[in-house]
Amino acid sequence: MMPAHPAGPDERVTTVTGTTSSPAGVFELASGHEQVVYCQDDATGLKAIIAIYSTALGPALGGTRFYPYATEQDALEDVLNLSKGMAYKAALAGLDLGGGKAVILGDPTKNKTEALLRAYGRFVQSLGGRYYTACDVGTFSVDMDQIARECRYVTGRTVAHGGAGDSSVLTAFGVFQGMRAAAEATWGAPTLHGRTVGVAGVGKVGHHLVRHLVEDGAEVVVTDVAPAAVARVQAEHPQVPSVVDVDALVATDLDVYAPCALGGALDDDVVATLSARIVCGAANNQLAHEGIEKQLQDRGILYAPDYMVNAGGLIQVADELRGFSFERAKQRAEKIFDTTQQVFALAQEDGVPPAVAADRLAERRMAEVGRLRGIWVS
Ligand SMILES: NC(=O)c1ccc[n+]([C@@H]2O[C@H](COP(=O)([O-])OP(=O)(O)OC[C@H]3O[C@@H](n4cnc5c(N)ncnc54)[C@H](O)[C@@H]3O)[C@@H](O)[C@H]2O)c1
Repeated sequence: MMPAHPAGPDERVTTVTGTTSSPAGVFELASGHEQVVYCQDDATGLKAIIAIYSTALGPALGGTRFYPYATEQDALEDVLNLSKGMAYKAALAGLDLGGGKAVILGDPTKNKTEALLRAYGRFVQSLGGRYYTACDVGTFSVDMDQIARECRYVTGRTVAHGGAGDSSVLTAFGVFQGMRAAAEATWGAPTLHGRTVGVAGVGKVGHHLVRHLVEDGAEVVVTDVAPAAVARVQAEHPQVPSVVDVDALVATDLDVYAPCALGGALDDDVVATLSARIVCGAANNQLAHEGIEKQLQDRGILYAPDYMVNAGGLIQVADELRGFSFERAKQRAEKIFDTTQQVFALAQEDGVPPAVAADRLAERRMAEVGRLRGIWVS
């Protein structure tokens, strides 16, 4: 199973332990990864780690997370887990991309400077295109523009600099496609019409998702810790009620639950409480620990794997590599519907939860298409 445990701000922390009392070294922790690069520039204070899990399908693409990790070990574990996740996400999305990720250790509100970002850009450039970067927690399109002054291998830039703009638009669209496929598998028709959908977190992705759902005729209930986020949704859709917090939403009578806030949304208590028949949302790393996917299955809840349905943002930034076309990227994101159908079918065939089937399909594509690289061409 794909790990659900980076130590980043929106994910759970799970310590990777060695087999002896001595701490595990980088080679042991990074087992399965192709390359881990440590980058340091004392003058700017840059400390970064770039992890490349796989380039079997193409250059590794993944965002740069700028985060004040408590320890260097936390940063390493986060970047290793996240880079693996990107490889699976790109493979399942049908992209010719591998998986990588980078972390910059520090507080972005205090340590982020033009010089630091440009120093980082030079290290990314030094990898010669094996790794392409993008935005993540703590980095924004304007930061990518700075990095791009030193480096050709950057996506997620501002529209003014040839970038694709806000990736949450297609992320939400992709989640909606996955949800339609889950509705078809559950109720026989690919629509949320007349269903009650609870959206936890109505930020960048969640509020776009609410619009798709309302347009499809669903009854939507939302919650968010930020009153302004709820107010924005209700200004657009006055009929959408809100509840006080995620616990209240989970306890509501729902047909579909859409976690669109933080990782670890699906823990033992949530799974035991949910009345929803489907879980499908944008949040990364929703499964709080290994085994939750089985608990969901045992309760008859169809889980649409997070990294499958939230790949629209990756699809959007990946399209920049060919000169961005929103329509082309949208067509590709629409295919998340078909991929979700395939994953549910494989899950049934193999008698495994959809999360396991998604991993299998991604691994199969990495092996099958990756093998072609062994055919020599001049
Ligand atoms: N933006 C993308 O393109 C993209 C792509 C893939 C995955 N994701 C994932 O989707 C999720 C949402 O991303 P986003 O870009 O919309 O982020 P965001 O920060 O814009 O929105 C998250 C929202 O969740 C709310 N929130 C935080 N904690 C909460 C809590 N405990 N209870 C209720 N609400 C809470 C926040 O107030 C915010 O409004 C994240 O997990 C992100 O990693 C986003």
